[in-house]
Amino acid sequence: MSKGSKTSKMTQPPQPGKPADFSSIAEKHWTPERITKITSGRKYEIVPPGDAPFLRAIGLLASDASMPADAVRKYVQINHMLGLVKAPLMDLRQRHKSLAILDAGCGSSFLTFLVAWYLKHKVDLEFGDFLCVGIDTNKALIEKSRALADKLELQKHMHFEVASTRDFTWEGLLERRPALAPFKRPQMVVALHACDTATDEALGLGIAAGADVLAASPCCQAELAAMWRELAQTPEGRAHPMAPAFHAPELRRTIAAEMTDMMRVMLLRTAGYETTATEFVESRHSPKNRLILAIKRGRYSMDAAESYQKFKAHLGGCAIRLESLISSAGAL
Ligand SMILES: C[S@@+](CC[C@H](N)C(=O)[O-])C[C@H]1O[C@@H](n2cnc3c(N)ncnc32)[C@H](O)[C@@H]1O
Repeated sequence: MSKGSKTSKMTQPPQPGKPADFSSIAEKHWTPERITKITSGRKYEIVPPGDAPFLRAIGLLASDASMPADAVRKYVQINHMLGLVKAPLMDLRQRHKSLAILDAGCGSSFLTFLVAWYLKHKVDLEFGDFLCVGIDTNKALIEKSRALADKLELQKHMHFEVASTRDFTWEGLLERRPALAPFKRPQMVVALHACDTATDEALGLGIAAGADVLAASPCCQAELAAMWRELAQTPEGRAHPMAPAFHAPELRRTIAAEMTDMMRVMLLRTAGYETTATEFVESRHSPKNRLILAIKRGRYSMDAAESYQKFKAHLGGCAIRLESLISSAGAL
């Protein structure tokens, strides 16, 4: 590139077919000091300038290869998320010839692309093949994700569908797409900020499909609060020890959201998953920062089921959506 043309190219988006131009801009921009600034000195998997074309494609780098302040938040978040799912992912890679990951309520598919990019570019794939599937009810976002998969040359490893967590099944997908038959089931199901009961449905479909790992970061859990509001109007609800919480609108929603996650953790343990809830990123980066991580260890646990039933009774006896999904999968 001539010196004269450099300034004008920095203001242009990267030219299709000329990734080297953007990469060389990124090489210059990403000094060790700048890298330390966005990573806070941590060892992240996805780092510019090496991963600059990917970060640019998912919208986290500007055309001059800089990372705008609001993109830094997302960048930190996705790297933390990858850090948390990396260990189970590597474990699955040891045990399975082909690896399938389902992102339920994928939205702009940040996480789906991150996992696909990571598996393609950072992991030795001698073991076989992998597939990342993203589903969402938003048609425009799914179309955008399909185009992005082509742009990043990940189309062979990615599949996007307009579908709802309510009725999506892996078997249904294989019937519609026989070419995906080698991927008999998803070994991992992720759901990042899927709204309200979509988180339960994502977990439920993972259990039904026999997934080994489930990772969900819940969002706007409103179901239990709505049931408590109804309960507050009944004689039984008025007499319940939790009645003050049933009647306090703002607190009711917050308390119910926390209790919903506790119930999800207990239900996953019932279904044989070793389950933890952790903060996946500091709250200054995102207030929705809880990750429920569940790893299949055994079969149905009667102790966990009893524990769940007692806990539920203590909270007014309302069943959350995941309970009915686990029951219909025969695990409760
Ligand atoms: C807050 S966004 C999160 C998107 C993405 N997972 C992320 O973290 O960037 C929630 C997404 O869930 C999708 N969604 C909500 N309910 C859904 C359902 N029942 N089935 C599939 N997608 C759903 C919405 O369309 C939206 O794209």
